Amino acid sequence: MSDWRAFAKLTLSLRVLGRRADGYHEIDALTVSVSEPHDELTIELGGSDVTLELSGRATTGVTAGRDNLAVRAVHALLATVDDARRPSGVRVAIRKEIPASAGLGGGSADAAAVLVALDHQLDLGLTADELALIAAGLGSDVPFCVRGGAARMRGRGERIDRATVPRFRVLVAVPPLSIATPAVYRAWDEMGGPVSTRVVRAPSGLGDLANDLEPAAERVEPRLAAFRTQLEATVSAPAILAGSGSACAVLYEHDADATTACDRVVAAAIASTCCVGVIRATGVEPVAVEP
Ligand code: C5P
Repeated sequence: MSDWRAFAKLTLSLRVLGRRADGYHEIDALTVSVSEPHDELTIELGGSDVTLELSGRATTGVTAGRDNLAVRAVHALLATVDDARRPSGVRVAIRKEIPASAGLGGGSADAAAVLVALDHQLDLGLTADELALIAAGLGSDVPFCVRGGAARMRGRGERIDRATVPRFRVLVAVPPLSIATPAVYRAWDEMGGPVSTRVVRAPSGLGDLANDLEPAAERVEPRLAAFRTQLEATVSAPAILAGSGSACAVLYEHDADATTACDRVVAAAIASTCCVGVIRATGVEPVAVEP
């Protein structure tokens, strides 16, 4: 049995370059793993099947069946293992704190943690390329989650180049609004592929940040714009949309007192009316780790 942490993926900047023939979109994104929110996984070999048990504050909209990305990750990894080493079953328990449909890659982070954990537990010694290949078969964001840290994501997201980012802190605010990623990409197509002109000045060294999916996400879920505006007014700073949303993030210099901004959000009406999700000051984290 082993315990693992799966960190949320925060997209700091996202340019959508166009729609591909396979329906996916070519992107160029700067992404980091953040310490909060994170899920906690316990993985145990044994039993006669692959089972998943969910607990925690963020289980809404998540099912524990065969279509759960963590379960699919177990099957994908076991398919590469020879009979002698393949366990009779795997029990996965996830304490979910990363909200679903918030653009924070929670399902992808869980799947990545399963791959890394089983590789470790079964002593498979998979190379980074082998893990990345299995990860890419599960979803566009899983390869990044396997690597963690900070990275440029290209292609449909599966082409990862390590990036260097300065230390910074970020406040992640999650409204109770679920936004489905495919709907946002579809809206981006319908809107003629908009390039977002709203640019957010980030802490020094990060450059100016923009998210081309923001206009599309705000069209799919019109309450999102009101949430972001309210959040920005509360903390007196601009917010970026996390991926396809609905989470929003405010970036601070690493030595800034982001906790005060957190407290202000929690204290403000925004917390009781629309922001009841995860709000934390946090830092950049490496790949899924054993705590
Ligand atoms: O790869 P994944 O299964 O996570 O993608 C979910 C959906 O998001 C895709 O089916 C597609 O509609 C959309 N998507 C996209 N372009 C990307 C990534 C995701 O259109 N680069």
